[in-house]
Amino acid sequence: MNIGIIGTGYVGLVSGVCLSAIGHTVVCVDNDKEKVKKLRKGIATIYEPGLQELMTKQIKRKKLFFSDSIKEATKRSQVIFIAVGTPSKKNGDADLTYVENVARQIAESMDSYKLIVEKSTVPAETGKRIEHTIKLNLPKQFKARNRSVPFDVASNPEFLREGSAIADFMNPDRVVIGVESKKAEELLKEIYKPLKTKIIVTNITSAEIIKHASNSFLATKISFANALSQICNLVGADVLKVTEGMGYDKRIGASFLNAGIGFGGSCFPKDVDAFIRLSEKSGYDFHLLRAVRQTNEEQKAAFVRLIEDKLWIVKGKTIGVLGLAFKPNTDDMRNAPSVDIINRLQAEGAKIRAHDPQAMEHSKKIFKGVTFCNDAYGVAKGSDCVVVLTEWEEFRQIDFQRLRKAMRQPMIFDGRNLYKNDNLVELGFEYYGIGRGEKS
Ligand SMILES: NC(=O)c1ccc[n+]([C@@H]2O[C@H](COP(=O)([O-])OP(=O)(O)OC[C@H]3O[C@@H](n4cnc5c(N)ncnc54)[C@H](O)[C@@H]3O)[C@@H](O)[C@H]2O)c1
Repeated sequence: MNIGIIGTGYVGLVSGVCLSAIGHTVVCVDNDKEKVKKLRKGIATIYEPGLQELMTKQIKRKKLFFSDSIKEATKRSQVIFIAVGTPSKKNGDADLTYVENVARQIAESMDSYKLIVEKSTVPAETGKRIEHTIKLNLPKQFKARNRSVPFDVASNPEFLREGSAIADFMNPDRVVIGVESKKAEELLKEIYKPLKTKIIVTNITSAEIIKHASNSFLATKISFANALSQICNLVGADVLKVTEGMGYDKRIGASFLNAGIGFGGSCFPKDVDAFIRLSEKSGYDFHLLRAVRQTNEEQKAAFVRLIEDKLWIVKGKTIGVLGLAFKPNTDDMRNAPSVDIINRLQAEGAKIRAHDPQAMEHSKKIFKGVTFCNDAYGVAKGSDCVVVLTEWEEFRQIDFQRLRKAMRQPMIFDGRNLYKNDNLVELGFEYYGIGRGEKS
């Protein structure tokens, strides 16, 4: 099938590459001309395991194209996915400016039946707004004819995780499609047929809610584990054992039940906020989610308090930071907990040395006064403590003797419980994890 994808970011690029790999001809559009230039040269604009290789292959097979023209993509495609950003407004609402803008441009370029699919994460009822926008902006010949408009709108939320996006797209737990017509249902089912996965068919509004509810539920699990970590510290229990003991219960499950320094990234914080706002506007106060958000903020603050307490004086001390990206295997720095934590430590007068395997380029634009190092040993050089903020595999493989020798004092704050199985105390470190019975 001929498919257009508007917005070639984390979701758009991965979806475009994968849809072409399962047999479709895809044109990915972005209004960032520099990005399109790079993509046309065959260079992946984000880091995602396996993406560059698959992209190169699909371009060679002439199944994947890039453009900066929505008009061109609309004319070439029967199905057009909207995958632009839906960031938070100051009040927590999802900002749908980009979605509206794209819907309008698609409408203006329509010359035959099109299926327009929301892939961006959007609040309930956005589908109706897109439909209305398209009707308003259709070319004159369609408006003039007194017949049904030649398009459908559908919702197809994306559940891929950055860091394992290709694998997630190719082997999803399920595909959700929200449709209001048989034709739209058939087209979407045909697109996803090669994946041989469970397809949940519902109406557009329910599909939109499924996405917000899923992300909010996962964020709730993380905040629950983080709240447990605080109680564990207070009563002298070990959150790792507590969550392990809980996680084996199939009704609970171990996944996302991990205590750490709080969730971040481009999705959970904004989607929780948008769901709270949608509920509020619809007449329901989602107290539970407001507590999830608050717990997440408190977790970062508690981690900084722990560091301040153990270092005693932060001013003038050198703090080594391992990991800046909001999670491993990505270069994404959007809403990364590292930003908040480093800013707080700098505000207290700490000097920061940092390394991340993939997110250094983005980080250099975000942080001021940070010394960026080539590896963990460079970070440790002269540091009064090392702080783990992202659980990259590379940091699991550390030579602790070498690390300790490089440090001014051997103290580690493990914000991800990455070294839970390495007895760092025996190796001569003062070691603090999350929720391991340590008061903060
Ligand atoms: N990143 C994830 O892991 C993830 C997972 C599932 C769902 N989502 C959702 O998918 C959506 C996109 O997220 P993302 O992380 O890919 O965002 P992104 O910021 O990486 O990409 C969005 C892209 O859209 C482009 N764009 C904006 N306006 C445009 C226009 N008028 N015409 C053409 N291109 C335009 C931008 O230049 C950018 O490249 C969001 O709603 C997000 O919540 C993201």
